[in-house]
Amino acid sequence: MKINFDKSFWFGTSTSGPQSEGWKNKKNDNIMDTWFKERPEDFFDKIGPNIASNVYSQYDEDIQMMAKIKLNSFRTSIQWSRLINNFDTQEINIDAVKFYRDYFEQLRNKNITLMVNLYHFDMPQILQDRGGWENKEVVDLFVKYATKCFELFGDLVDYWATFNEPVVPAEAGYLYKWHYPFISDLKKAVQVGYNTILAHSKTVKVFHELFKNDLNKKISIILNLTPCYPKTNKEEDVKASHIVDLFFNKSFLDPVIKGKFPIDFVKLLKSENLLPECNRDELKIIRENIIDILAVNYYQPRRAKARDTQFSGPLMPEKWFETYNWPEARINPYRGWEIYPRTIYDIAKDIKDNYNNFPWFISENGMGVQGEEKFVKNGIINDQYRIDFIKEHLYWLNKAIADNSNCLGYQIWTFVDCWSWNNAYKNRYGLVYLDLETQKRIIKESGYWMKKMIENNNMFELTNEEVEKYESIK
Ligand code: FCB
Repeated sequence: MKINFDKSFWFGTSTSGPQSEGWKNKKNDNIMDTWFKERPEDFFDKIGPNIASNVYSQYDEDIQMMAKIKLNSFRTSIQWSRLINNFDTQEINIDAVKFYRDYFEQLRNKNITLMVNLYHFDMPQILQDRGGWENKEVVDLFVKYATKCFELFGDLVDYWATFNEPVVPAEAGYLYKWHYPFISDLKKAVQVGYNTILAHSKTVKVFHELFKNDLNKKISIILNLTPCYPKTNKEEDVKASHIVDLFFNKSFLDPVIKGKFPIDFVKLLKSENLLPECNRDELKIIRENIIDILAVNYYQPRRAKARDTQFSGPLMPEKWFETYNWPEARINPYRGWEIYPRTIYDIAKDIKDNYNNFPWFISENGMGVQGEEKFVKNGIINDQYRIDFIKEHLYWLNKAIADNSNCLGYQIWTFVDCWSWNNAYKNRYGLVYLDLETQKRIIKESGYWMKKMIENNNMFELTNEEVEKYESIK
């Protein structure tokens, strides 16, 4: 069977500033930088973001390589803590402007469609000390920073995103204590989530005002959608799964596309006295400023069932569900994440049926593997598992497009192996291998597979056995 994508389809990769650039010429710390400085032992092999993949100094080499593989799209982020020297006066770091302008210009010269994101978990430490996303003053400082970015780089960048995975700072920083500031407080987490949406919508408003005469300019938000499947079709399991969707997916998806929060979610928050501080003017801004295109990171679904036991302890979303471990799940052993490509089709269908077939694309999908060096053959990493992973996901994406989903592209996380928060360089995701000691880049087999597929007019073949296998996994 031939799997074919349109000529204009985006095939590319994504990364972020804090995970790839390194600290050179950066004057301010973000919360990940401080965390590493304070507790390096929290990071795999004590490797921090200080050098990362040295993209600050090697971006030109990476762009040449991207062009060689024929990728036509790329996403990265501007670091708030790099661009702004002084958050009160908005004094900018001239060196950062030079760096980002040259980086973006070189991508443009290679005809690589660029999407620039404004926030990737990287709250400047100085602003975290003022409460971070808990504080609405920080919301307005973010909008000022975003406006600066549009003014400084708007001529070079058509596609923008406000936030990457805005649910993560709320859940990781304010519920499960995975990330700085290691707080666990559902009410605060709800406020943080709400304030992020507010910062997003205010930014979208500025963007549309600034670029109202330029139809090429589009703004987006990057959501990590994790649709939830109930254990059974029993009412209580379906209800539990619906609540998971409300907390982790729809609470962000609905306001950015429909301009309002899901009513069931508002009711649930109200019943627990968890509604965030908000006012009519803010809700009007959220209602009136929707995105132009949706970016979706997809790694794995969620699975839930009704609680077997009474929930106890401080209030958490788990009061309403229990995570269900599906016995047949295929798990990526290195990351512990389920591999379930069919969800891509379900996401596409949800967007088609419930969000008016809104334009969207996959902005992250990928597989982190530890110890890839053991797969070296003739000097390159033979990552057949990653090729298989990509093929299976593209199969479902292609099927969704055939059923009229308005999907514009597929980006793999990531191009050159990059730093992953406290997992650091444990699991490698790239199409290109990074030698951490020499910072040398070597294209993996998956990179060559992408090149071949793109040169083949965005087409690859699947055997009948492969298709049968994909379809048989329900
Ligand atoms: C996603 C994040 C990204 C990266 C991948 C592996 O959730 O957006 O920064 O860490 O996971």
